[in-house]
Amino acid sequence: MNGLTKEQKQRVEELLSRMTLDEKIGQMNQESPSIVGGFDVPFEELIEMMTDGRISKEEFGRIMESAQQDFHEDMIREGGVGSLMVQDPVKVNELQKIAVEESRLGIPLIFGLDVIHGFRSVYPIAIAEAGSFDTDLFERTAGMAAKESRAAGVAWHFAPMVDVARDARWGRVSEGPGEDPFLGSEFARAKVRGLQNDQSSTENYVAACLKHYVGYGAAEAGRDYNTVSMAMHVFYNNYLKPFAAAVDEGAQTVMAAFNDLNGVPCTVNEFLLRKTLKESLGFPGFVVSDANAIRECVVHGIAEDDVDAGIKAAAAGMDMDMGTEIYSKHLKEAVESGKLDISVIDEAVRRILSVKMWLGLFEHPYVSEEAMHRYDTLPKEHTDLALEAAEKSIVLLKNENHVLPLKKDAKIALVGSLADSRTEIIGAWAMSWQEKDCVSIREGMEQTFENVRYFPCGGPEGDISMDEVIAAGDYGDVIVAVLGELDSMSGEASSRTDITIPGRQRELLEMLMHTGKPVVLVLMNGRPLALDWEDQFVPVIVEAWHLGIRMGDAVAHVLSGDKNPEGRLSSTFPKVSGQCPVYYNAMNTGRPGSKSKFTSRYLDIAPGPLYPFGYGLSYTEYAYSELSVTETSADCWVSVKVTNTGDAAGRETVQFYLQDVTGSLVRPVKELKGFRKISLEPGKSENVIFRLPKKDMGFYDNDGRYRLEDGLFRFYVGGSSESCQMAELRIAF
Ligand code: BGC
Repeated sequence: MNGLTKEQKQRVEELLSRMTLDEKIGQMNQESPSIVGGFDVPFEELIEMMTDGRISKEEFGRIMESAQQDFHEDMIREGGVGSLMVQDPVKVNELQKIAVEESRLGIPLIFGLDVIHGFRSVYPIAIAEAGSFDTDLFERTAGMAAKESRAAGVAWHFAPMVDVARDARWGRVSEGPGEDPFLGSEFARAKVRGLQNDQSSTENYVAACLKHYVGYGAAEAGRDYNTVSMAMHVFYNNYLKPFAAAVDEGAQTVMAAFNDLNGVPCTVNEFLLRKTLKESLGFPGFVVSDANAIRECVVHGIAEDDVDAGIKAAAAGMDMDMGTEIYSKHLKEAVESGKLDISVIDEAVRRILSVKMWLGLFEHPYVSEEAMHRYDTLPKEHTDLALEAAEKSIVLLKNENHVLPLKKDAKIALVGSLADSRTEIIGAWAMSWQEKDCVSIREGMEQTFENVRYFPCGGPEGDISMDEVIAAGDYGDVIVAVLGELDSMSGEASSRTDITIPGRQRELLEMLMHTGKPVVLVLMNGRPLALDWEDQFVPVIVEAWHLGIRMGDAVAHVLSGDKNPEGRLSSTFPKVSGQCPVYYNAMNTGRPGSKSKFTSRYLDIAPGPLYPFGYGLSYTEYAYSELSVTETSADCWVSVKVTNTGDAAGRETVQFYLQDVTGSLVRPVKELKGFRKISLEPGKSENVIFRLPKKDMGFYDNDGRYRLEDGLFRFYVGGSSESCQMAELRIAF
């Protein structure tokens, strides 16, 4: 189990045999510091005040810093806590000392945290990084985050988030690798390797936590926490896939999702937790609930009260309770009264202790003084990697008249308040970064170009300054407008119904266009946006997401041509919000959308997305030719010639899609089955070969049975999900 040695397994069993029921249940309890006062209003109201804008996020942060906190020391001493969410290494050591030296059995705590896209060195949000299609990069950034967090005592990341997300209205699309199960699976595997595999020292690895298991990304209408209903073949072929891949890669823990799946909240869903995850997929680690989720089962209406919710969750296979203390308060009585079998508790504790053992926490529970300060100044290697990731994640969406790249001595009017921010570049769910390490777009541009002048003009919130617009037009040979979303507009509890550029920024764009100067729109955002208007009228659009600490440099390098853009969209961009959800690997219909009225389309917009999955331009061009498909007994072989036909060197993402033309169930119009990144000098060609094992050409039916069905298959290869060459082959398995 969990890659433990025989001796370690014996130690776990021996420990288990010495534990009281209270101590066992204590291991199943995760706490975070409780805010117990130091301000004038109840904590809940404080949260509301921040939500409705009565206090700013910054003010809230300041209040929290000075708030009185309870770290549950007494409970830890009694063996009543298995895990805590803390990131201050001094506090980590202090609490760990109580667990190790003052509790009866000395079992170390495991400290967990949301390290979603970096710890001290923040790299791009996942939806952006996934668009680099660079699995080696995914792994290296995860490895960097593991080392930085472990040096602060955080040995457990609540990451990777691998929810397939097809609805851009959902705020959490920013946190995961996009809409595609294949890319999502490659991302999930690479992240697990990066977080877990360098076990040369306990300082180099952490436990991954796959979340949110499962289907959270399919929340109805993109509204966070909403109900999820889906056919089981959709579940197996799409939403489960990245989880299954990451379990196969050895992920140590899993977090259950908030939502219900087909009527049963994931938190108490025995089919998902016990049958599918633990039995069918053979997951050896432990499952933690999402925050407060066990209590929410009462609100869901699936449990009568806390006691009932706790019993149902534990029985379903939920090993650790995040934040409600329901397990600590009620499971003992449930076991003693015969409502819950002790074997359920033993299994959970065995899994939790095994992960702690695997992490080396028993031997190395503390953070050393040296480690604590190791990243006070970020090593160049780390900031370079953050830059590499940021550069590779930028997607060039439109470049009319080759406005880009810009000359280094061009007079650039830099517009938009986002351009001057060191904090907005970070994006949702990052908490351990420092402003001193961040490079705003303004700073990056001033570093790279000779003549940059900044005119705020406006931003996601507030008014437009007409005077500044006029001044920008007067100054610039070109206007670079940095517009988009605040980082608080994506992430958890940040769904939007209208996913156009928020506030008055479109108006601002129109005004900038009226200056007569070419406008380069640089987008900073955490979700696909509806850019129909911008695509029609703005000559140049660069999707720059929230790219982390080196965002400013990365954007400047792409605009100057020092870096030829190579990022692709990991999610389809709709034309208008009303098209959501829109994704490339949709099911066939009997009436695919076309010009004709009685087809699957809307009256007011042409069928199809604005920018498809896999799309992205470069400063050069690539041609595809000589596509061929052959088969051997076990595999299909797809070969294509890719030529750089432009005059700049570049990196192309060669994408391979498959269509199973006829099946016993309706099949998607296309599914990604492979990708390869190649570097090509101008005029050069490369033959790219994909091997597709025939065993991977099947699909799951509604009963979870895997089917390989003979018939016609179409093989598509190209530079995006829409621009592909196609070859056909009839296969008999
Ligand atoms: C989120 C999780 C996160 C947890 C702990 C929850 O609200 O849904 O993704 O890991 O909080 O911070």
